[in-house]
Amino acid sequence: MELRVKRAPRIDIEITVPGDKSISHRAVIIAALSNGVCVLNGFLPSEDCMHTVNALRALGIQIEQPERDTLVVHGKRRVLTPPKKEIDCGNSGTTMRLLAGLLAGQTFESRLVGDSGLSRRPMDRVVAPLRKMGAHILAEGPEQTPPLCVRGGSLHGIHYRSPIASSQVKGALLFAGLFAKGKTTVVEPSITRSHTELLFNYFLVRTAKNGDGSISVFGDQVPESRDFTIPGDISSAAFWLVAAAAQPGGHLLVREIGLNDTRTAVLGILLRMGAQVREAVEGVDQLEPHGIVEVTGIPLKGTVIQGKEVPQVIDELPILAVAGALANGTTIIRHAEELRIKETDRIAAIAHNLRVMGAKVAEMNDGLEIHGPAALHGARVASFGDHRIAMAFAVAGLFAEGETIIQDADCIRESYPGFETVLEQFTNPKRMQISTPVIGSLSPARAERVEEA
Ligand code: S3P
Repeated sequence: MELRVKRAPRIDIEITVPGDKSISHRAVIIAALSNGVCVLNGFLPSEDCMHTVNALRALGIQIEQPERDTLVVHGKRRVLTPPKKEIDCGNSGTTMRLLAGLLAGQTFESRLVGDSGLSRRPMDRVVAPLRKMGAHILAEGPEQTPPLCVRGGSLHGIHYRSPIASSQVKGALLFAGLFAKGKTTVVEPSITRSHTELLFNYFLVRTAKNGDGSISVFGDQVPESRDFTIPGDISSAAFWLVAAAAQPGGHLLVREIGLNDTRTAVLGILLRMGAQVREAVEGVDQLEPHGIVEVTGIPLKGTVIQGKEVPQVIDELPILAVAGALANGTTIIRHAEELRIKETDRIAAIAHNLRVMGAKVAEMNDGLEIHGPAALHGARVASFGDHRIAMAFAVAGLFAEGETIIQDADCIRESYPGFETVLEQFTNPKRMQISTPVIGSLSPARAERVEEA
């Protein structure tokens, strides 16, 4: 599929976004391990998350889908049955890495395969620590790439200092830890998204957050079945937040969005670039904070994104790079070498596409230097089979002179079904649902944000 984009008229719009991808993967896994029926609302019915759902079905879990975004999961008290054939993770790294942890604790053998993109991605980051826990696990591809053959064993807890800030690694080890003897502790080099531990707590699985920021789980626990509503994905909203922020006078309101503070660094960066950004947490009843974000655009200025901030915006870096191209001055992204091993080499893909559209960009090993503001012109750009590259450059197209064509845009379905419909609203003033002025309860700045406990 090709996606055609033209310059946006004045943006004034109110939207919601589909459920959070990271939370959706984890919620269905925990529900499957629980002791009864769990209804998951707001589930993201994207290709990636459906690979996790189908994997669990292949492991003997009954999961109904009465609505596109509702799952009824029949938890089987941690009992999984051997899959009849290999488990297809598609292009979903999260599916493969989280399942590697889950399957490491099972007494049967399973094989996880992926498509050609996933088959190039490194798995040693989960294979090495899971082996330390006692799992028999082999990455069969060259240089520890998929397929993964997992023969679970009797696991024992470990204290693991991860060399990489990756919540997929943390999640895999915590899932394995549920099936391990004793305590499993993960120390991260810097904070990553906290969804696994929050969901564990919500499903009454005991974890401990230690003084050094590390997180522990105790083995042999059965999650208590509960219903759960997944908030909107801030990483999906980020595409529209940048569009509104980069258009002087643009205005966007996003409702029912996840506001877990390990995910909201993108708002701080937009604020630093000069946009007006307000967030209001409306509830934390199910432990994951959710609420409203409002953005008003002005001419942005360049910024530096580096160090511990990088893992907190790892999925937003493609669209933040586009923001950088539209901003006055230089935007520098450093310490982001992980981008090279995402669905594609995102550093190379961003640099290539920004240049094709007329921006000045220097590529570094671990990041980018982007010289704005660029007068972007429409062009044919490649998605490189990467959903976030496709969406980031669709938004770039909203600011370009002439038509922008995103080639091979089907990959968008991996994380954001319905993206094209929202894009159409952004380019067609008649379709814009004009945003209601917000409510006095919103604080004037992120620093003073409202948090209702
Ligand atoms: C994810 C973690 C991140 C992110 C990915 C989803 C998760 O990957 O890029 O889209 O759900 O844990 P890493 O753990 O490799 O940083």
